[in-house]
Amino acid sequence: MTLPPAGKNSAEHVAAGAERRWATVSLVILLLLVVMAAIAGAHQAIMPQAKVETVDPRSLHISGEFTEGNLGSALQPDGSVMVRAIGQQYSFTPQCILVPKDTPVTIRATSADVVHGFLIENSNVNLMLVPGYISTASTRFSRTANLTMPCHEFCGVGHEGMWGRIQVIDKAAFLKLAANQRRLSCVAQ
Ligand code: CUA
Repeated sequence: MTLPPAGKNSAEHVAAGAERRWATVSLVILLLLVVMAAIAGAHQAIMPQAKVETVDPRSLHISGEFTEGNLGSALQPDGSVMVRAIGQQYSFTPQCILVPKDTPVTIRATSADVVHGFLIENSNVNLMLVPGYISTASTRFSRTANLTMPCHEFCGVGHEGMWGRIQVIDKAAFLKLAANQRRLSCVAQ
């Protein structure tokens, strides 16, 4: 077989053009992925999280920010709410978390033993609780509700029974409770 002479329509010319087009497409996809990873990293939206914070799971209950008196919801000086929680086989502490609606909520949680899941229905909160590491999430609840919070990582024989609850109440009611207590937990309804 004889190739046509080199020129504008030669086989080499057509092949080189096609290679350039496909190389450009791959480069654009690559750059898009890099930008997406950078944005997700900056917003702490990747799992495991970009900002690694460690904690000793053996001494959670003895010292540091996850001691029992520090768990639950607390009003912050800037008006936001900080929630601290622990997952362990086969429950969450606290078992029910109280938060106000229309308020920025930051969750900081970890595990005392094995990997657990931390998911709040109808929200953007979907974390893994990994022993030795602190998982964080930022969210906001737009209506009052009782939400379920199942563990969604298989963590042992009692996994299916590991459920928590989130109680979202009016902001005014929350602020009233927060005036008397530093750490809040769910209220009877
Ligand atoms: Cu904890 Cu599944």
